[in-house]
Amino acid sequence: MTTPPAGSQPLSLRQVERADLLDVFRIEKQCFSQPWPYAAFEQFLGESGFMLAERDDVVVGYVVADVIPNYGRDIGHIKDLAVRPESRGQGVGRSLLERALTTLFVDSTALVKLEVRESNDPALDLYRDVGFEPMRRVPRYYDDGEAALVMVLDLDGWATGDPASPDIDDE
Ligand SMILES: CC(C)(COP(=O)(O)OP(=O)(O)OC[C@H]1O[C@@H](n2cnc3c(N)ncnc32)[C@H](O)[C@@H]1OP(=O)(O)O)[C@@H](O)C(=O)NCCC(=O)NCCS
Repeated sequence: MTTPPAGSQPLSLRQVERADLLDVFRIEKQCFSQPWPYAAFEQFLGESGFMLAERDDVVVGYVVADVIPNYGRDIGHIKDLAVRPESRGQGVGRSLLERALTTLFVDSTALVKLEVRESNDPALDLYRDVGFEPMRRVPRYYDDGEAALVMVLDLDGWATGDPASPDIDDE
């Protein structure tokens, strides 16, 4: 169910600026047992795939996406996506993910991949719903020993509403 709180302003999405980094980092620490360090976010400042969502002037989530060169076939990578706990179930995660995919599509990326904990049902549901398909399982991908699922999306199919099976050489 993706209903915004009654009386709230519409969600707005924009690129992350330096002044937003503490808000982003605070959400990261709330959301992950192994959060990225602050400096990792600094490296993505200015990147078109580093975006946040805000409502009523409060940062409620963010996404980090970039492009990996891959033998002439660039691959988009969703590296991080998080919504603060109080703002979940309101369509924020989906909006951020879809905006990141649009940015990657505009950058002429054909395929997008991501890694997700195999126990992370909310994220898995979101990714499946958007059209990502599991490609392989990586045992002990995370420091605590949990496996990751690598999921991929054919961006042309996503953009045209005509899903195709992704064809990817993953390193
Ligand atoms: C995963 C996450 C980003 C989803 O954000 P969100 O804003 O709550 O998601 P949305 O409201 O946009 O929901 C979109 C879809 O996600 C799925 N989903 C969201 N919350 C869910 C839940 N608790 N259980 C199952 N599916 C869920 C549903 O398919 C939902 O579609 P629907 O609303 O039509 O049912 C959020 O739960 C989060 O930040 N989790 C912690 C960080 C994390 O795990 N990030 C992903 C790392 S790979």
